Amino acid sequence: MPLNIAVLGTGRIGGSYLDVVRKSGHNVAVVAEPREEQVAPLKMKNPGVDFVADYKEAIKRKDVQAAILTLPHWLHHRAAIDALNAGKHVYLEKPMALNTKECDEMIAAARKNDRLLFVAHTQRYMPAVKKMKEIVDSKELGEVVMVHDVWHKVLEPDKRPKWMLDQTRGGGMGQMDGSHMIDRLLWILGSDITTVSARVGNFTHPHIPADDTAMCFLRWKHGPVATLSRIAFDIGKGYTEYGAEYYFTKGQAKFRLAYGQGANQKTGVWIARNEEWTEVPIKATDSLHDEVTDFAKAIESGSKTPPIRMEHGRQVIEVLEASEESSRTGREVVLGR
Ligand SMILES: NC(=O)c1ccc[n+]([C@@H]2O[C@H](COP(=O)([O-])OP(=O)(O)OC[C@H]3O[C@@H](n4cnc5c(N)ncnc54)[C@H](O)[C@@H]3O)[C@@H](O)[C@H]2O)c1
Repeated sequence: MPLNIAVLGTGRIGGSYLDVVRKSGHNVAVVAEPREEQVAPLKMKNPGVDFVADYKEAIKRKDVQAAILTLPHWLHHRAAIDALNAGKHVYLEKPMALNTKECDEMIAAARKNDRLLFVAHTQRYMPAVKKMKEIVDSKELGEVVMVHDVWHKVLEPDKRPKWMLDQTRGGGMGQMDGSHMIDRLLWILGSDITTVSARVGNFTHPHIPADDTAMCFLRWKHGPVATLSRIAFDIGKGYTEYGAEYYFTKGQAKFRLAYGQGANQKTGVWIARNEEWTEVPIKATDSLHDEVTDFAKAIESGSKTPPIRMEHGRQVIEVLEASEESSRTGREVVLGR
C-alpha cells in the first residue's frame, strides 16, 4: 500500500523529495513551506498536491502516515516531536538536533508514540562510501590503523540561508558537513569511539558567527584513530575535495565524492597496489531514493527500529559537542562520561 507522506520544508533540498517519494511508489499528500517564491514552481509541477504554509498544519492531516522533515536545524527538535506526537513516522534530514539533550527528548517522543524516527544520514547510501565499508568489513587489507577524512569546500555565504550562518540556530559547517563525516566514520569504523580532540573555529570567514573549519583527532576503543579535516574557503581560494584515505595493516584504500564545486572530479574508490592506485568498480545508485525506500519499507514491515538507529544520530551530535568542548578547553574529551 503506498504511504501518504508530508514534505515539511522545501528549501535547497526539500523540493527534491517530491519526485523521490513518487519514484519510490508513494504519494506526496501535502507540502509545508512558508516562502511563496519557493513553492510557486512546485505548485505548477505538482497539481495534485496540497500546499500549506506551516509544518503544524501538514501534520494535522489524518490521511498522512509519515513526514519528511527538511527544515532548518533549529527546528528539527520541535518539529520532529510535534510530528511524532501527531502519530506520524518521521524521516529527518541530518543532523538530528542542535545538542544531545534535544536528541534524548526526540528519542523519548518516538518511543512514547511507538513511531519510527529515522535520521537520514545520506553518506551510507552513496556507493563509494558503501564500498569502503565493504573493504573494511572484508578485512582483505587487514585491520584499519588510521583514517584521514576530508571535506574541503567553498562556503559561498551569499547563497546560504541566514540560519546556516548563525551557530546558535544550527549553522556552521560542523552541523552541515561535520555531521556527514562523523556519520560515515562511525558507520565504517564502529560506535566504540572513546575520545575527541579538536580545534574548531571561523578562520576563513571571521565576520560570520558560525564555524567554517575544524581539525579533529578521534580514537576508537578497538584500535583505529582518525583525523577529520574540514574547511570552507572563499570561491577561487582553494581546492574542493570530499573523501577519505584508509590505512590498514596490509594496505591502503581511498574514496572520493564529486559534487559542488568539485563536481568535475571523479567519484570512486581506489586500492593502492605496487605504488599505484587501482580503481575498484562501483555501481551508480540514487541515494535519496534508496533512503526513502528503506524508511518506507521499515514502516510497511511494522519494524520497531528505523534503518539507522536513533542512538547513532545522537552519537553524531555527541561527537560534535565534544569537538566544540575540546576546542574551547584545549583538552581531549572522553566520550560517554
Ligand atoms: N543530505 C544532504 O546531502 C543534505 C544537503 C542539504 C541539506 N541537507 C539538510 O536538509 C535540511 C534543510 O537544509 P536546506 O539546505 O534545504 O535548508 P533551507 O533553509 O534551504 O530549507 C529549509 C526550508 O524550511 C522552510 N521552513 C522554515 N520554517 C518552516 C515551517 N515552520 N514550516 C515549514 N517549512 C518551514 C524554509 O522556508 C526553507 O525553505 C537540513 O537539515 C540540512 O542539513 C542535507
